[in-house]
Amino acid sequence: MCGIVGYVGQQQALEIVVAGLRRLEYRGYDSAGVAVISDGELSVRKKAGKLANLETLLGSDPMPQSTTGIGHTRWATHGGPTDSNAHPHVSEDSTVAVIHNGIIENFAELRSELAAAGVHLASETDTEVVAHLLAHELPNADDDLPEAMRRVCRRLEGAFTLVAIDRSQPDVVVGARRNSPLVVGVGDGENFLASDVAAFVAHTKQALELGQDQVVVLTADSVTVTDFAGEPVEAKPYLVDWDASAAEKGGYDLFMLKEIAEQPRAVADSLRGRITKDGRIQLDETNLEEATLRSINKVVVIACGTAAHAGMVAKYAIEHWTRLPVEVELASEFRYRDPIVGPDSLVIAISQSGETMDTLMALRYAKTQGARTLAICNTVGSTIPRESDAVLYTYAGPEIAVASTKAFLTQIIAAYLVGMYLAQVRGTMFEDEIRRVLLQLEDMPSKVDLVLDTTEGVRELARDLANSTSVLFLGRHVGYPVALEGALKLKELAYMHAEGFPAGELKHGPIALIEDGVPVIVVVPSATGRADLHDKVISNIQEVRARGARVIAIAEEGDEGITPFADHVIRIPVVPTLMQPLVATVPLQVFACELATAKGHDVDQPRNLAKSVTVE
Ligand code: M6R
Repeated sequence: MCGIVGYVGQQQALEIVVAGLRRLEYRGYDSAGVAVISDGELSVRKKAGKLANLETLLGSDPMPQSTTGIGHTRWATHGGPTDSNAHPHVSEDSTVAVIHNGIIENFAELRSELAAAGVHLASETDTEVVAHLLAHELPNADDDLPEAMRRVCRRLEGAFTLVAIDRSQPDVVVGARRNSPLVVGVGDGENFLASDVAAFVAHTKQALELGQDQVVVLTADSVTVTDFAGEPVEAKPYLVDWDASAAEKGGYDLFMLKEIAEQPRAVADSLRGRITKDGRIQLDETNLEEATLRSINKVVVIACGTAAHAGMVAKYAIEHWTRLPVEVELASEFRYRDPIVGPDSLVIAISQSGETMDTLMALRYAKTQGARTLAICNTVGSTIPRESDAVLYTYAGPEIAVASTKAFLTQIIAAYLVGMYLAQVRGTMFEDEIRRVLLQLEDMPSKVDLVLDTTEGVRELARDLANSTSVLFLGRHVGYPVALEGALKLKELAYMHAEGFPAGELKHGPIALIEDGVPVIVVVPSATGRADLHDKVISNIQEVRARGARVIAIAEEGDEGITPFADHVIRIPVVPTLMQPLVATVPLQVFACELATAKGHDVDQPRNLAKSVTVE
């Protein structure tokens, strides 16, 4: 949700800022803009649409050379995606330029106050008020931008990352953070600010985490952090443990294709070091105390979108292994319904980005209720793990495509490890049972590899179905969240009506959607592992076929029982039932990616979406 970059140093700021924005464009691509200071003047260029539009503008209307600059790529909240609503926003006297990620909730009141003072507001955004407020505060703050920023921040409500420059302080970039992400990149004679380390990892791997309600002041040689009251605080340093190349396409046409292909490696990395040679789980890194794990009486998963689907898959496994009830809650709903959560609950927040505002707010609510909290997260140093009592990182590597793929598989792996650990600590599984499941998990990278080797049929089918108006997905047991995930991928990438249903639920209403030729993709349970479910799903297939559906079955190798009932069968390797989501999801990812490509869509940056949703 909006990408932010700031730079001060010895190099040309514009080049560094635009390159950083390119790496952050996945966060929002409704408009882009930059500002630099040169010869005591601010220069701003901004343009609606993707970053490429801004780059074209910069080609025809170049900016002056400068070693201080800021840049922004926007996911629109207040005001449409137009040139005038694009950031940076500038004060009336052209002193201050500001970029912003988040929502300033009291902006209406602040706008009225400014309008009453005779300020002309040039955009419909909440951000613009900050530019004017900063300009008004500067005289009260001895013309010191950091102090003006602290004064303004104390007046703001909501979630915000702000970065500002002032033409009279050309060697300073000031950032502020409440709820929305902001990291500092510490270089040699140069420093960076960004919403995500991806923007500066090509220049430095030394990063600083900023905490809640903090202001950071960058010059080329210094980084100073205070709270909003001006008291010095120490920011936590960390080392980025991946290379810039990990956030590049690496020869693939699309980030999504690369990330789908990386799944065997990502799954293997997420297991590495967490299983001992004698077949036990060790999660010492999380600091989860065994006494706490023994004392809890339920598990609550909070997450959104794909991460929530991973939680739904994990529910089947964790309940089976631990006999603890597991509730999976959509984070955006959680705190608004007086949920039953307290000191006896282990709350697991699942998030790829670690910045999803709905999940963060649900996590904070759970903490106020005394729950013990654990983050399953892919982004080291992000807010959700930082605010959780314990964290288990997935090692998927940077996920750039908006549609989540490798994050999903690794979230399932991490949640399974937590489930197995609970079972180990609470003694609800025998040692040899634990060893058996761990061996199954360790087998998964090669099984996912097998699926990736045989996707041609899926891609052909996707091209064939590109003109469908609706696709339904059915599953039972762990196949149900897989069906939901398949439908979500298709909706977000192909902009088609797609819905996932529990196969048995269809007859209670949704079956009315079936008409001649409607594609129905069915995740078929293992014929050997769950013959009971397999047979029930065959009955459900017959129900939809009788009404004209075109059935595409995702079924395990050797399941010949399915052949007479499906128009098309996509084969997946034989794996135990609880492992099936790890292989059955992959063809659905490939299907959505190929179908969206056939429709000519921008797969990595689908319309209306952003990778990291940092507003509620
Ligand atoms: O970063 P998070 O895992 O917290 O993100 C949660 C959802 O916004 C995310 O999974 C979203 O649903 C994906 N775009 C789906 O592909």
